[in-house]
Amino acid sequence: MKPSHPDLPPFGREMTHLKRSVMRELIKIIARPGVVSLAGGLPANELLPVDEFRQCLDAVLRRDGPKALQYGPPHRPLQTWIADYMRSRGVACEPDQVFITNGAQQGLNLISRLFLDAGDAAVTEAITFTGVQQVTKGRGARVRTIPTDFRAGADMDALEAAFAAEPRPRLAVLIPDFHNPLGVSLSVERRERAAQLAATYGVPLIEDDPYSPLRFLGDPRPPIKAFDEAGFVFYLGSFSKMLAPAMRLGWIIAPRAVLPRLTVLRESFDLESSALIQRGVAEFALSGLLDEHLRRFNAANRERRDALLAALKEHLGDMAHWTQPEGGLFVWVTLPEGVDAWEMLPKAVERNIAFVPGAAFAVEGGHANTMRLNFSSVRPDQIPHAIAVLAEVIEEAMG
Ligand SMILES: Cc1ncc(COP(=O)(O)O)c(C=O)c1O
Repeated sequence: MKPSHPDLPPFGREMTHLKRSVMRELIKIIARPGVVSLAGGLPANELLPVDEFRQCLDAVLRRDGPKALQYGPPHRPLQTWIADYMRSRGVACEPDQVFITNGAQQGLNLISRLFLDAGDAAVTEAITFTGVQQVTKGRGARVRTIPTDFRAGADMDALEAAFAAEPRPRLAVLIPDFHNPLGVSLSVERRERAAQLAATYGVPLIEDDPYSPLRFLGDPRPPIKAFDEAGFVFYLGSFSKMLAPAMRLGWIIAPRAVLPRLTVLRESFDLESSALIQRGVAEFALSGLLDEHLRRFNAANRERRDALLAALKEHLGDMAHWTQPEGGLFVWVTLPEGVDAWEMLPKAVERNIAFVPGAAFAVEGGHANTMRLNFSSVRPDQIPHAIAVLAEVIEEAMG
């Protein structure tokens, strides 16, 4: 007879709030051979700098040998490159303020844990990246949402009202450039106001910014952090989109005073970021390969975006409207009221086209008649057919 054991204890409280990401579920549905996926949030495989990065790793291992394979402090040349880059964007910071992370998601998680407990108030955009939802609502916060308009981004009057309400929020998150999933960017005036509001009301504000280097049109805008004199803005950058997701590397620009706490907290997760990857990425950036890569990548994304917008106009021109991103990876499409994108999805997948229903990003539900379309991971010649098929599915859904 097998010895009997007591049951495992119940899961910790945090697990009662945390839901599996809809995006991960979707990946299973759409990862079928032959599916043209407008659902991803990633760079195209053929645009990843495989050979160039191999050369960088090779150079690092030859030069640094075992140091590149050891535990170690943050790689100072990488911190210096990031600080220079942030200063070129108007952010006053020094290399020692660059806190290296394993991607922006880790930055979201770290800052959330620094300030927020279950039951506390937090503020996010009503439509936002699922990873933002995971570190707020998913951690049991009472989330107040603010609307985002398609021209100038998150509504600052609503942000002020959410900050002024009691209890005071202990965290807010905004996505400034080429919003995931909306594709819109916050106006410069609103960036300045967001920084002022965070300081006035004493709310830590996360500026979650993996997309600003992906601009292919228009003038770059200063980050919210550039207006942060009082030290309430936590800027998150990432190499996931500007170089490759598998680097799992990003950074936080944080006020100096919180760095010791952040360091201890991070140690409890995973100690530090890979010395090898930090060095490889520093090599890639310092040798000029990153600039070259971004030029190629953004030019390709622009071609893909143009193909998508042209196809939307041709096939959905009289029944939908959509955002016009100047960079990034996504277009947000609003269909007529009454159409349910979740119901359409299996029908589209049957015909080998995938997208993400916009409702997956809606913090308080609703938005059933919306879709997020990714243009970066499909070849431009595949886009017209994909949208023609999608238009058929939508027409059928509309009866
Ligand atoms: C707005 C936003 N924040 C954070 C992340 C996570 O990025 P990383 O790969 O750097 O963890 C993503 C990834 O898609 C994102 O879209």
